[in-house]
This record gives sequence, C-alpha cells and structure tokens, in this order.
Amino acid sequence: TQQMNIGLLGFGTVGTGVLEIVEQHQDKLAHQIGASVKVKRILVNDLHKDRGSLVTKDQLTDNIDDIINDEEIDAVVEVMGGIEDARLYMKRALESGKHVVTANKDVMALYGSELLQIANEKKCDLFYEASVAGGIPILRTIVEGLASDRITKMMGIVNGTTNYILTQMTKEGRLYDDVLKEAQALGYAEADPTADVEGLDAARKIAILGTLGFSMNLDLDDVSIRGISNVTSQDLAYSKQLGYTMKLVGIANRNDDKVEVSVQPTLVPHDHPLASVDDEFNAVYVYGEAVGETMFYGPGAGKLPTATAVVSDLVEVLKNKRLGVNGNSAIIPQFEKKLKTPEE
Ligand code: NDP
Ligand code: HSE
Repeated sequence: TQQMNIGLLGFGTVGTGVLEIVEQHQDKLAHQIGASVKVKRILVNDLHKDRGSLVTKDQLTDNIDDIINDEEIDAVVEVMGGIEDARLYMKRALESGKHVVTANKDVMALYGSELLQIANEKKCDLFYEASVAGGIPILRTIVEGLASDRITKMMGIVNGTTNYILTQMTKEGRLYDDVLKEAQALGYAEADPTADVEGLDAARKIAILGTLGFSMNLDLDDVSIRGISNVTSQDLAYSKQLGYTMKLVGIANRNDDKVEVSVQPTLVPHDHPLASVDDEFNAVYVYGEAVGETMFYGPGAGKLPTATAVVSDLVEVLKNKRLGVNGNSAIIPQFEKKLKTPEE
C-alpha cells in the first residue's frame, strides 16, 4: 500500500497524543485514507529534552527546513502553539504544496483568512477542528452537519482551563492559584495561561465559531471580552446560594444579519444544562432556524481528546490529497460583516 508522510510541528501535550493515535490506530487510519501514515519528522525547540522511547533521534529536528523541503512529506501538523513562528511555518508549508492541520486558535483567529486564501490558491487543505472545544467536532458540525440551515446563535463554554478553575473553586472550595497550577500540570492551559484566565482563548474560539457559523469574517477585535481573573471565592459562594453557577460563557448572536460576539463570566441557573458542564469539559449550543436547538458536549482540552480532533482532520486532508480534491471551499466566508453597535 501507498505510504503518506507527516511532518509534526511540536511534541508537547498535543503532539505526543497525535503520535500515539497515529501509531495505535494504524489499521483504522489506513482503511479510512487508503494509505498508511507515518510521522516522518518532528520539529521541537530543544533537541536534548528526554522524549522517552516514543521517537527516534532521526525523527527529531529543530530546523523547519527539514520538513518544508522534504518532498516526501504530504502534510504538516502544527501543534507547537505561539503565533509568529506557527503562522510562518504554516504559510511556508502551504506555499510548498503541503496540506496543513492545526490546533492553533491564536493563529486562526488572527490570520485564518490569509492562510485559507493561500491554501485555496495552492489547492491545499487547511483544517483546524481542534482549535475550538478540543475533542468536540464542533467546526465540522457547523460547516457540514448544519450546512443547509441558517445558524442564528452559538453559545457555550469553550475554555477548559477556566471551567476547571471555576468548578474546583465552586465545588471543592479550592483556591484560584492552586487550581490554575493544576490545570497547567494537566496540560489544559496555554503556555501563557493569561490567555485562558483573561478570556482571550475563549474569545479566539468564539471568533472562529462566528466566522464559520455566520459565514462572515469576524476578528478578535469584534469580541467583547471579560475573563475570570477577578472572580473571587466569595462571588462563587454567593452565586451558589442564589441558585446560580458561575461559568465563562461565550456568545455569538445574529439578529437581522447583524452580529454581536462576547465572552464573560455569567450566572447560569443551577437547572440549566450549562451549569452541569464541569472541569475541563466544554459545551456548545447551536441554534439554527430550521433545526432549532442543538447542544454538543465533550472534553475541551487535554492530550488525547485534542489529538483525536487533529488526527481526524489529518484523515480528511490525506484522503483529499490522495483523491486530488480540495476541502476548503465551504469555509471561505460568504457575507460581509455587519456588527451590532452598543446602541442597537
Ligand atoms: P506544549 O507547550 O505542550 O508543546 C509545544 C511543543 O512545541 C513543544 O514540543 C515545543 O518544543 C514545541 N515548540 C514550541 N515552539 C516552537 C518553535 N518555535 N519551534 C520549534 N518547536 C516549538 O503545547 P500543547 O501541546 O499544549 O499545545 C499545542 C497547540 O495546541 C497550541 O496551539 C494550543 O493552543 C493547542 N491546543 C492545546 C490543547 C491542550 O489541551 N493542550 C487543546 C486544544 C488546542 P520542546 O518540546 O522542545 O519545548
Ligand atoms: N487552553 C485551552 C483550554 C486548550 O483550556 O481550553 C484547549 O483549546
């Protein structure tokens, strides 16, 4: 059988998960793609770090050219995080005709349209399912599953770290700083957790959901953002007494073709389904004019849930590459952006 080769950018929480799934699910992947898959090279920062027995020395590199210039590499999986290097490497990969899968909401929220345009020009795929709500296949659901409907609202919990912090503070009475440290150790938090606790990570995800769900180019600047860093144990205790659970909720709303997008700590009544979304789990409500109300629930962060989304994208882009088709056309925004002003 044919073999397809991957260049993996990053070998941290998500990258190790990607390698594990590619190796452990070989038969399933080969069946889906029609070719076997091999992680040929892995880009890291530090070649001297102990990587256990998962990888050989020959697989590792700290030079992106080893991946971009390797003509045997069919697709690049970007799970290194950060913005400028990641954006540049994805751009170079697409320009050299390699398909790209990424989990990077920072880059997709800021430069998604630029990269998608290059991808389309080069007839390459750029897929980013893992960038929103970890293991929940929410982007595919919006773009494909609800392709025939007009989505009017998306609302939910889309950051695992802050949900973990709020849950542990509310239910176990733990301290903010301790729980944040634990969320970092569990691999849920961003390299700089400020993005999580200040609501920026959730805002990036809401911007991506809005862009795809409403088919218009929403920017991060369009999102009104408030995080949880000022929420105190006392706030949470009072909320609980009054019958509410505090959650960091993102909302993208469309009314008469005008949209508003926001992220803020929100008091959710105890009997609302979002109130029982605990720890690193995420949930997204999607309202469509025809379908009505739908809700998607699952792990929003962590090694294997996130890697599952990444490798599922990889299956699709490799299948597309083998068949010589391009899967991006449905995700290029169709409508001009119209934002609701505060007076409206
Ligand atoms: P980690 O910090 O665990 O891993 C990052 C990896 O990338 C490391 O192997 C690091 O190398 C390498 N790396 C970072 N910068 C560079 C660079 N400039 N050049 C070469 N190698 C580099 O990150 P995560 O795995 O947690 O996250 C990766 C991406 O996935 C991020 O975009 C994140 O937002 C996204 N994501 C993460 C989720 C999670 O639950 N963790 C969930 C959904 C998305 P070295 O090992 O040498 O330090
Ligand atoms: N830091 C992110 C979170 C990772 O906690 O949700 C998943 O995107």
